[in-house]
Amino acid sequence: MTILYEPSRQAAQYFAMLIGGDVRTAGQLAELEAILEEDPQEQLVLFGPNTPVIEAVSLAARQRLARPTLGVVLLRHHLEVDVLAEAIRSGVREVANVNDPPSILAACARSQDLSRRLQGGANGRAGTAEASDFVDGKVVTVYAAKGGSGKTMLATNLAIALAAGEKRVCLIDLDLTLGDVAIMLQLAPERTIADAVPVADRIDETGLRTMVTNYCPGVDVLLAPVLPTVAAQISRDLVTEILYLARSMYDYVVVDGPAVFNDHVLAALDSSHRYILVAAPSVTAMKNLRILLDTFDVLDYRKENALVVINRADPRLGLTPADIERVLRMPITAQIPASRDVAIGINRGCPSCWSSRPTR
Ligand SMILES: Nc1ncnc2c1ncn2[C@@H]1O[C@H](COP(=O)(O)OP(=O)(O)O)[C@@H](O)[C@H]1O
Ligand SMILES: [Mg+2]
Repeated sequence: MTILYEPSRQAAQYFAMLIGGDVRTAGQLAELEAILEEDPQEQLVLFGPNTPVIEAVSLAARQRLARPTLGVVLLRHHLEVDVLAEAIRSGVREVANVNDPPSILAACARSQDLSRRLQGGANGRAGTAEASDFVDGKVVTVYAAKGGSGKTMLATNLAIALAAGEKRVCLIDLDLTLGDVAIMLQLAPERTIADAVPVADRIDETGLRTMVTNYCPGVDVLLAPVLPTVAAQISRDLVTEILYLARSMYDYVVVDGPAVFNDHVLAALDSSHRYILVAAPSVTAMKNLRILLDTFDVLDYRKENALVVINRADPRLGLTPADIERVLRMPITAQIPASRDVAIGINRGCPSCWSSRPTR
Protein backbone atom coordinates (compact mmCIF):
# COMPACT_ATOMS: atom_id res chain seq x y z
CA MET A 1 0.00 0.00 0.00
CA THR A 2 1.05 3.61 -0.62
CA ILE A 3 0.22 6.66 1.46
CA LEU A 4 -0.52 9.72 -0.60
CA TYR A 5 -0.33 13.06 1.17
CA GLU A 6 -1.99 15.81 -0.85
CA PRO A 7 -4.23 18.64 0.44
CA SER A 8 -6.05 19.18 -2.87
CA ARG A 9 -8.78 16.56 -3.20
CA GLN A 10 -8.78 16.75 -6.98
CA ALA A 11 -5.02 16.29 -7.24
CA ALA A 12 -5.19 13.48 -4.68
CA GLN A 13 -7.76 11.63 -6.80
CA TYR A 14 -5.63 12.02 -9.90
CA PHE A 15 -2.45 10.71 -8.27
CA ALA A 16 -4.27 7.88 -6.50
CA MET A 17 -5.56 6.74 -9.89
CA LEU A 18 -2.15 7.12 -11.48
CA ILE A 19 -0.38 5.00 -8.85
CA GLY A 20 -3.18 2.46 -8.79
CA GLY A 21 -3.55 -0.36 -6.26
CA ASP A 22 -4.14 0.23 -2.61
CA VAL A 23 -3.65 3.93 -1.77
CA ARG A 24 -4.52 5.70 1.49
CA THR A 25 -4.89 9.43 1.17
CA ALA A 26 -4.12 12.05 3.80
CA GLY A 27 -5.14 15.68 3.32
CA GLN A 28 -3.22 16.98 6.35
CA LEU A 29 0.11 16.27 7.97
CA ALA A 30 -1.50 15.11 11.22
CA GLU A 31 -3.56 12.58 9.26
CA LEU A 32 -0.42 11.31 7.55
CA GLU A 33 1.40 10.94 10.89
CA ALA A 34 -1.58 9.02 12.29
CA ILE A 35 -1.60 6.58 9.35
CA LEU A 36 2.14 6.02 9.69
CA GLU A 37 1.82 5.33 13.38
CA GLU A 38 -1.09 2.96 12.81
CA ASP A 39 0.78 0.94 10.21
CA PRO A 40 4.49 0.50 11.00
CA GLN A 41 4.94 -1.74 7.92
CA GLU A 42 4.02 1.02 5.47
CA GLN A 43 6.88 1.56 3.02
CA LEU A 44 6.04 4.52 0.79
CA VAL A 45 4.78 8.05 1.34
CA LEU A 46 4.15 10.12 -1.75
CA PHE A 47 4.10 13.87 -1.06
CA GLY A 48 1.82 15.53 -3.62
CA PRO A 49 2.74 18.74 -5.49
CA ASN A 50 0.68 20.96 -3.14
CA THR A 51 2.48 19.90 0.05
CA PRO A 52 5.19 22.14 1.56
CA VAL A 53 8.72 20.86 0.81
CA ILE A 54 9.68 21.44 4.43
CA GLU A 55 7.15 18.81 5.57
CA ALA A 56 8.61 16.16 3.26
CA VAL A 57 12.15 17.10 4.29
CA SER A 58 11.32 17.01 7.97
CA LEU A 59 9.45 13.67 7.78
CA ALA A 60 12.24 12.08 5.73
CA ALA A 61 14.91 13.35 8.14
CA ARG A 62 13.01 12.01 11.17
CA GLN A 63 12.17 8.65 9.65
CA ARG A 64 15.55 8.08 8.01
CA LEU A 65 17.00 6.66 11.21
CA ALA A 66 13.84 5.66 13.05
CA ARG A 67 12.30 3.76 10.14
CA PRO A 68 14.77 3.34 7.28
CA THR A 69 12.44 1.07 5.30
CA LEU A 70 10.01 3.94 4.79
CA GLY A 71 10.57 5.71 1.47
CA VAL A 72 9.57 9.33 0.87
CA VAL A 73 8.95 10.41 -2.73
CA LEU A 74 8.22 14.06 -3.44
CA LEU A 75 6.28 15.42 -6.44
CA ARG A 76 6.98 18.96 -7.67
CA HIS A 77 5.80 21.09 -10.58
CA HIS A 78 9.38 22.19 -11.24
CA LEU A 79 12.57 20.42 -10.28
CA GLU A 80 14.72 23.14 -8.75
CA VAL A 81 18.29 22.28 -7.88
CA ASP A 82 18.16 23.67 -4.32
CA VAL A 83 14.92 21.80 -3.54
CA LEU A 84 16.39 18.62 -4.99
CA ALA A 85 19.58 19.01 -2.97
CA GLU A 86 17.76 19.75 0.29
CA ALA A 87 15.32 16.90 -0.23
CA ILE A 88 17.92 14.29 -1.08
CA ARG A 89 20.18 15.44 1.77
CA SER A 90 17.35 14.93 4.26
CA GLY A 91 16.70 11.40 3.02
CA VAL A 92 13.86 11.95 0.52
CA ARG A 93 14.46 9.09 -1.93
CA GLU A 94 13.28 10.68 -5.15
CA VAL A 95 11.85 13.96 -6.42
CA ALA A 96 9.68 13.51 -9.54
CA ASN A 97 8.04 15.97 -11.88
CA VAL A 98 4.21 15.96 -11.67
CA ASN A 99 4.01 16.33 -15.44
CA ASP A 100 5.93 13.14 -16.05
CA PRO A 101 3.71 10.18 -14.97
CA PRO A 102 6.17 7.46 -16.12
CA SER A 103 8.93 8.97 -13.97
CA ILE A 104 6.54 9.16 -10.98
CA LEU A 105 5.69 5.48 -11.36
CA ALA A 106 9.36 4.56 -11.81
CA ALA A 107 10.34 6.58 -8.70
CA CYS A 108 7.64 4.85 -6.61
CA ALA A 109 8.68 1.43 -7.93
CA ARG A 110 12.37 2.05 -7.16
CA SER A 111 11.55 3.25 -3.66
CA GLN A 112 9.31 0.26 -2.94
CA ASP A 113 11.91 -2.10 -4.29
CA LEU A 114 14.58 -0.59 -2.02
CA SER A 115 12.21 -0.78 0.97
CA ARG A 116 11.55 -4.44 0.28
CA ARG A 117 15.26 -5.11 0.11
CA LEU A 118 15.94 -3.19 3.31
CA GLN A 119 13.08 -4.98 5.01
CA GLY A 120 14.56 -8.25 3.79
CA GLY A 121 17.94 -7.26 5.21
CA ALA A 122 16.41 -6.28 8.53
CA ASN A 123 14.40 -9.46 8.71
CA GLY A 124 17.01 -11.88 7.49
CA ARG A 125 16.49 -11.32 3.74
CA ALA A 126 13.32 -13.35 3.56
CA GLY A 127 13.46 -15.80 0.72
CA THR A 128 17.23 -15.85 0.30
CA ALA A 129 18.47 -17.00 3.66
CA GLU A 130 17.25 -18.96 6.59
CA ALA A 131 16.44 -16.79 9.58
CA SER A 132 19.13 -18.65 11.53
CA ASP A 133 21.79 -17.52 8.99
CA PHE A 134 21.03 -13.91 9.62
CA VAL A 135 23.72 -12.01 11.47
CA ASP A 136 22.60 -8.75 13.00
CA GLY A 137 25.99 -7.14 12.40
CA LYS A 138 27.10 -3.79 13.69
CA VAL A 139 28.21 -1.01 11.39
CA VAL A 140 31.12 1.16 12.54
CA THR A 141 32.07 4.17 10.43
CA VAL A 142 35.50 5.75 10.81
CA TYR A 143 35.28 9.36 9.74
CA ALA A 144 37.20 12.63 9.86
CA ALA A 145 36.52 15.93 8.25
CA LYS A 146 40.13 16.07 6.99
CA GLY A 147 42.33 13.82 4.85
CA GLY A 148 45.47 12.41 6.45
CA SER A 149 43.83 12.17 9.90
CA GLY A 150 44.40 8.44 10.16
CA LYS A 151 40.98 7.08 9.15
CA THR A 152 42.34 4.33 6.93
CA MET A 153 45.05 3.44 9.44
CA LEU A 154 42.41 3.11 12.16
CA ALA A 155 39.77 1.34 10.04
CA THR A 156 42.21 -1.31 8.80
CA ASN A 157 43.60 -1.93 12.28
CA LEU A 158 40.12 -2.08 13.76
CA ALA A 159 38.93 -4.62 11.18
CA ILE A 160 41.88 -6.90 11.84
CA ALA A 161 41.60 -6.51 15.60
CA LEU A 162 37.90 -7.44 15.52
CA ALA A 163 38.62 -10.50 13.37
CA ALA A 164 41.35 -11.56 15.80
CA GLY A 165 38.53 -11.84 18.31
CA GLU A 166 36.92 -14.48 16.07
CA LYS A 167 34.43 -12.09 14.48
CA ARG A 168 33.62 -11.94 10.78
CA VAL A 169 34.40 -8.49 9.50
CA CYS A 170 33.70 -6.70 6.25
CA LEU A 171 35.89 -3.62 5.74
CA ILE A 172 34.38 -1.24 3.20
CA ASP A 173 36.49 1.45 1.54
CA LEU A 174 33.98 4.25 1.07
CA ASP A 175 36.59 6.74 -0.08
CA LEU A 176 35.29 6.04 -3.56
CA THR A 177 37.53 8.46 -5.43
CA LEU A 178 40.80 8.15 -3.52
CA GLY A 179 40.47 4.92 -1.55
CA ASP A 180 43.69 3.77 0.12
CA VAL A 181 42.65 0.47 1.68
CA ALA A 182 43.87 -1.61 -1.29
CA ILE A 183 47.32 -0.05 -1.17
CA MET A 184 47.54 -0.10 2.63
CA LEU A 185 46.71 -3.80 2.72
CA GLN A 186 48.54 -4.54 -0.56
CA LEU A 187 45.46 -6.06 -2.15
CA ALA A 188 45.05 -6.14 -5.94
CA PRO A 189 41.83 -4.28 -6.77
CA GLU A 190 40.52 -6.95 -9.16
CA ARG A 191 37.09 -6.87 -7.55
CA THR A 192 35.73 -3.61 -6.18
CA ILE A 193 32.48 -1.86 -5.26
CA ALA A 194 32.32 -0.82 -8.95
CA ASP A 195 31.11 -4.38 -9.65
CA ALA A 196 27.93 -3.51 -7.73
CA VAL A 197 26.91 -0.79 -10.22
CA PRO A 198 25.50 -3.01 -13.02
CA VAL A 199 23.58 -5.14 -10.50
CA ALA A 200 22.62 -2.23 -8.24
CA ASP A 201 19.07 -3.27 -7.46
CA ARG A 202 19.59 -7.00 -7.20
CA ILE A 203 22.69 -7.71 -5.12
CA ASP A 204 22.37 -10.71 -2.89
CA GLU A 205 24.69 -12.52 -0.53
CA THR A 206 26.37 -14.50 -3.31
CA GLY A 207 26.84 -11.30 -5.31
CA LEU A 208 28.48 -9.47 -2.43
CA ARG A 209 30.78 -12.44 -1.75
CA THR A 210 32.07 -12.21 -5.32
CA MET A 211 32.84 -8.48 -4.87
CA VAL A 212 34.93 -8.71 -1.70
CA THR A 213 38.62 -9.60 -1.44
CA ASN A 214 39.81 -11.67 1.47
CA TYR A 215 42.68 -10.10 3.41
CA CYS A 216 43.17 -12.56 6.24
CA PRO A 217 40.96 -15.06 8.09
CA GLY A 218 37.83 -13.23 9.16
CA VAL A 219 38.44 -10.05 7.15
CA ASP A 220 36.88 -9.45 3.74
CA VAL A 221 37.40 -6.11 2.07
CA LEU A 222 35.14 -4.29 -0.35
CA LEU A 223 37.64 -2.14 -2.19
CA ALA A 224 37.08 1.29 -3.73
CA PRO A 225 36.87 1.55 -7.54
CA VAL A 226 40.13 1.82 -9.43
CA LEU A 227 38.72 4.65 -11.57
CA PRO A 228 37.63 7.67 -9.49
CA THR A 229 34.91 8.50 -12.06
CA VAL A 230 32.96 5.39 -11.03
CA ALA A 231 32.15 7.07 -7.71
CA ALA A 232 29.51 9.19 -9.45
CA GLN A 233 27.65 6.04 -10.48
CA ILE A 234 27.42 4.78 -6.90
CA SER A 235 24.28 6.20 -5.35
CA ARG A 236 23.44 6.72 -1.71
CA ASP A 237 20.79 3.98 -2.05
CA LEU A 238 23.36 1.54 -3.39
CA VAL A 239 25.64 2.19 -0.42
CA THR A 240 22.68 1.72 1.95
CA GLU A 241 21.78 -1.54 0.21
CA ILE A 242 25.34 -2.88 0.44
CA LEU A 243 25.59 -1.96 4.12
CA TYR A 244 22.31 -3.67 4.96
CA LEU A 245 23.37 -6.77 3.11
CA ALA A 246 26.84 -6.78 4.66
CA ARG A 247 25.29 -6.42 8.13
CA SER A 248 23.32 -9.56 7.55
CA MET A 249 26.47 -11.52 6.63
CA TYR A 250 29.19 -10.20 8.96
CA ASP A 251 29.43 -9.52 12.69
CA TYR A 252 31.02 -6.14 11.99
CA VAL A 253 31.02 -3.86 8.99
CA VAL A 254 33.83 -1.32 9.30
CA VAL A 255 33.51 1.63 6.95
CA ASP A 256 36.55 3.72 6.05
CA GLY A 257 35.13 7.09 5.08
CA PRO A 258 36.41 9.78 2.73
CA ALA A 259 37.41 13.24 3.96
CA VAL A 260 34.31 14.87 2.51
CA PHE A 261 30.77 14.96 3.82
CA ASN A 262 28.97 13.50 0.82
CA ASP A 263 25.97 11.26 0.13
CA HIS A 264 28.07 8.13 0.59
CA VAL A 265 29.09 9.25 4.07
CA LEU A 266 25.48 10.10 4.92
CA ALA A 267 24.41 6.60 3.83
CA ALA A 268 27.10 5.08 6.04
CA LEU A 269 26.32 7.30 9.03
CA ASP A 270 22.60 6.56 8.67
CA SER A 271 23.33 2.83 8.92
CA SER A 272 26.00 3.05 11.64
CA HIS A 273 25.77 1.85 15.21
CA ARG A 274 29.02 3.62 16.09
CA TYR A 275 30.89 6.56 14.60
CA ILE A 276 34.61 6.79 15.23
CA LEU A 277 35.72 10.36 14.68
CA VAL A 278 39.47 10.72 14.23
CA ALA A 279 41.35 13.99 14.59
CA ALA A 280 44.85 15.27 15.11
CA PRO A 281 45.45 17.23 18.33
CA SER A 282 45.52 20.59 16.56
CA VAL A 283 43.37 23.68 16.94
CA THR A 284 42.10 23.47 13.34
CA ALA A 285 41.24 19.76 13.61
CA MET A 286 39.34 20.49 16.84
CA LYS A 287 37.40 23.30 15.18
CA ASN A 288 36.44 20.95 12.31
CA LEU A 289 35.47 18.18 14.69
CA ARG A 290 33.34 20.58 16.74
CA ILE A 291 31.51 21.61 13.53
CA LEU A 292 31.07 17.95 12.62
CA LEU A 293 29.58 17.17 16.03
CA ASP A 294 27.17 20.11 15.66
CA THR A 295 26.18 18.72 12.25
CA PHE A 296 25.55 15.36 13.91
CA ASP A 297 23.10 17.12 16.22
CA VAL A 298 21.25 18.65 13.29
CA LEU A 299 21.08 15.28 11.52
CA ASP A 300 19.89 13.48 14.67
CA TYR A 301 22.94 11.20 14.96
CA ARG A 302 23.28 10.27 18.59
CA LYS A 303 26.41 11.68 20.17
CA GLU A 304 26.55 8.83 22.66
CA ASN A 305 27.36 6.55 19.71
CA ALA A 306 30.28 8.72 18.63
CA LEU A 307 33.78 7.86 19.81
CA VAL A 308 36.51 10.47 19.55
CA VAL A 309 40.00 9.18 18.78
CA ILE A 310 42.96 11.56 18.84
CA ASN A 311 45.60 10.35 16.42
CA ARG A 312 49.27 11.35 16.62
CA ALA A 313 48.63 12.40 20.20
CA ASP A 314 51.63 14.24 21.61
CA PRO A 315 51.51 16.03 24.98
CA ARG A 316 54.39 18.27 23.86
CA LEU A 317 52.16 19.95 21.28
CA GLY A 318 50.50 22.11 23.92
CA LEU A 319 46.89 20.92 23.51
CA THR A 320 46.07 18.71 26.49
CA PRO A 321 43.32 16.05 26.53
CA ALA A 322 41.43 18.28 28.98
CA ASP A 323 41.61 21.20 26.51
CA ILE A 324 40.32 18.95 23.71
CA GLU A 325 37.46 17.58 25.80
CA ARG A 326 36.48 21.09 26.81
CA VAL A 327 36.33 22.25 23.18
CA LEU A 328 34.46 19.16 22.00
CA ARG A 329 32.21 18.92 25.04
CA MET A 330 32.69 15.17 24.96
CA PRO A 331 35.24 12.67 26.27
CA ILE A 332 38.17 11.33 24.27
CA THR A 333 37.80 7.56 23.88
CA ALA A 334 41.36 6.77 22.82
CA GLN A 335 44.66 8.41 21.92
CA ILE A 336 47.10 6.94 19.43
CA PRO A 337 50.67 8.24 19.56
CA ALA A 338 52.59 9.18 16.43
CA SER A 339 54.70 6.15 15.72
CA ARG A 340 57.27 5.06 13.17
CA ASP A 341 55.75 1.59 13.34
CA VAL A 342 52.58 2.91 11.68
CA ALA A 343 54.46 4.18 8.64
CA ILE A 344 56.65 1.06 8.49
CA GLY A 345 53.60 -1.23 8.77
CA ILE A 346 51.79 0.66 6.03
CA ASN A 347 54.78 0.48 3.72
CA ARG A 348 54.87 -3.28 4.35
CA GLY A 349 51.14 -3.66 3.57
CA CYS A 350 50.37 -4.60 7.11
CA PRO A 351 48.61 -2.41 9.68
CA SER A 352 50.69 -1.39 12.61
CA CYS A 353 49.35 -3.69 15.32
CA TRP A 354 50.57 -6.73 13.41
CA SER A 355 54.09 -7.58 12.41
CA SER A 356 52.79 -9.61 9.46
CA ARG A 357 49.46 -10.38 7.83
CA PRO A 358 47.49 -12.41 10.42
CA THR A 359 46.92 -16.07 9.61
CA ARG A 360 45.10 -16.97 12.84
N1 LIG B 1 49.67 7.39 14.59
C1 LIG B 1 50.38 7.56 13.47
N2 LIG B 1 51.74 7.60 13.52
C2 LIG B 1 52.47 7.75 12.41
N3 LIG B 1 51.98 7.89 11.17
C3 LIG B 1 50.64 7.86 11.05
C4 LIG B 1 49.77 7.69 12.18
N4 LIG B 1 48.49 7.70 11.74
C5 LIG B 1 48.55 7.84 10.40
N5 LIG B 1 49.84 7.93 9.99
C6 LIG B 1 50.32 8.14 8.62
O1 LIG B 1 49.57 9.20 8.05
C7 LIG B 1 49.18 8.87 6.72
C8 LIG B 1 47.69 9.22 6.59
O2 LIG B 1 46.94 8.27 7.32
P1 LIG B 1 45.59 7.69 6.72
O3 LIG B 1 45.11 6.62 7.63
O4 LIG B 1 45.80 7.32 5.28
O5 LIG B 1 44.67 8.98 6.81
P2 LIG B 1 43.24 9.25 6.16
O6 LIG B 1 42.65 7.92 5.79
O7 LIG B 1 42.47 9.96 7.23
O8 LIG B 1 43.47 10.12 4.96
C9 LIG B 1 49.47 7.41 6.51
O9 LIG B 1 50.35 7.24 5.45
C10 LIG B 1 50.10 6.93 7.77
O10 LIG B 1 51.37 6.39 7.47
MG1 LIG C 1 41.94 7.24 3.91
